Amino acid sequence: MFSLIILTMCGIVGYVGTSPALIVLLEGLERLEYRGYDSAGVALIENGRLHVDKKVGKIRELVRSLWGKELKAMTGIGHTRWATHGEVCELNAHPHTSCSGDFALVHNGIVENYRELKQKLESLGIEYKSQTDTEAIVHLIDLNYEGDLLKAVLKTIKSLKGAYAFAVISTREPNRIVAVRYGSPLVVGVGKNENFIASDIPALLPFTREVIPLDDGEVVDLRPDGLFIYDFEGNLLTKEVMHVPWDIISAEKGGFKHFMLKEIFEQPRTLGDTIRGYISRDIILPFSLRDFRRVVVVACGTSYHAGLVGKYWIEKYTRVPVEVAYASEIRYADMPVGENDLVLAISQSGETADTRFSALAMKEKGATLLSIVNVMGSALDRESDHTLYTHAGPEIGVAATKTFTAQMAVLFALSVNQSESAQEKMENLLKVPHLVEEVLSKSEKVKELALKYANSTDFLYLGRFLNYPIALEGALKLKEISYIHAEGYPAGEMKHGPIALIDEKTPTVALAPRDRVYEKMLSNIEEVLARKGKVIGVGFEGDETLRKVCTHTIEIPQVDEDMTPFLTILPLQLFAYYIADYLGLDVDQPRNLAKTVTVE
Ligand code: G6P
Repeated sequence: MFSLIILTMCGIVGYVGTSPALIVLLEGLERLEYRGYDSAGVALIENGRLHVDKKVGKIRELVRSLWGKELKAMTGIGHTRWATHGEVCELNAHPHTSCSGDFALVHNGIVENYRELKQKLESLGIEYKSQTDTEAIVHLIDLNYEGDLLKAVLKTIKSLKGAYAFAVISTREPNRIVAVRYGSPLVVGVGKNENFIASDIPALLPFTREVIPLDDGEVVDLRPDGLFIYDFEGNLLTKEVMHVPWDIISAEKGGFKHFMLKEIFEQPRTLGDTIRGYISRDIILPFSLRDFRRVVVVACGTSYHAGLVGKYWIEKYTRVPVEVAYASEIRYADMPVGENDLVLAISQSGETADTRFSALAMKEKGATLLSIVNVMGSALDRESDHTLYTHAGPEIGVAATKTFTAQMAVLFALSVNQSESAQEKMENLLKVPHLVEEVLSKSEKVKELALKYANSTDFLYLGRFLNYPIALEGALKLKEISYIHAEGYPAGEMKHGPIALIDEKTPTVALAPRDRVYEKMLSNIEEVLARKGKVIGVGFEGDETLRKVCTHTIEIPQVDEDMTPFLTILPLQLFAYYIADYLGLDVDQPRNLAKTVTVE
């Protein structure tokens, strides 16, 4: 037997109401497509019986298999599954049904003790059909059922270990969905004579903008005419309904070929929206960063790179030392943290498991938890002492772009807030959206270079100081969406290893705006050229020296050195995009990646 561990970053949708559920489920699932998935399925309660359809592949395969079936069911659940371990097949696709055939369940996350549960179920004579951890939950609910689905779920979760979100329906109570959140995101959509459940807000937007994000350890009992939320002990909770301000249009491609391209070009607006939220000197926080002896930044992926840029600004303007850590590393590192520390968690989704749990562990040790998140109402938002929002709107492309620049804008505002030069510095930041627009208007030049180098198999990205994290981020973009090996490195460190990689076939992207390390960067570029490497230099407009030295140049307007990361990242985002598109790759849903990683 192969590995039975299924790591899912899947999508869940559920509907209970007075209209055909199938339409809601399919539309909702389509809106979760950006998460990436390998199979999809629905379960409906049709004339008192369960109707389950699952297909490997895209949602259109599922639609095809449903073609001509007149399904009028008004209760149903749907799922998109992305397995990173274990087989992709119909049997493993969700929904899973129970031994009696009366219960169907969709699940996101991992049930860590499922092997033990499976053994127990098999010893009771229950035939386990799939290779998933999920199937254990639905059998247990069936076994625990004594006339009330909610009670059966409450009893079942006592025996589950791990992080999960699931939704279950049963023919024995056809107008009811019970769903649970414990570590994986789940949001309730509130309607009129209908209610919804989904793993992500975009799935709900065509139907309602009134939502209740569930917290970990909560169970929702949904019926057409009402909903009740309980804790795991069955105590009724009172929760507030939130209105989602996003416009549905902003979750559409708006004429662009891919969401990623649309999101790159949205940056003048998203940066403007974010910066406007932080213009006043005093509104940011009830405390100053200087009240702490240290700031510890925890984040993953692109958010981690934003944190690395933030470190330079925070240290420069507040003189408070900053440590930036990969959340997955610091989580098990036994770092001494206490009341004098500020933990700064950065996360687009606010749901990344490593970021959340490493930050929460430090909060438990007495540190203050401040977060920068894009998704209002996300777990991290609710778990933090204070939250600063990036007002970038929903980001659909798996590769983060507009949320990265928005995170940097918040970090800069946070760094200069309460400093002597705050007003002058914020004025510099206010000019950024316009300059971003100017850089993006010259995207054709980047496209030309991208096509020229699209067949290279290795790239080196070099930068120093504020542009070292940008080199890391540029390399990450290329890896993520074009599957080309790229190494981001601090330019001065190159001579201690990566220089051995350089030859005429390995192009180097060198970030060289005229900042305090400009001369040093020029020397590093010369070192590459001396080894026959081709160099694409990103620097200031009118920089004749750079033009002479580099094989090609991409120019950005001259700005104060603090502002350079906002501009140097843009050609790198575009470069990665155009190469991936040229290679015909799935830009918005790159292989093996998920937008939100809710497992460790
Ligand atoms: C995933 C995404 C990345 C993202 C990272 C952190 O790996 O594919 O684009 O940077 O998670 O996500 P977060 O939501 O915490 O910023």
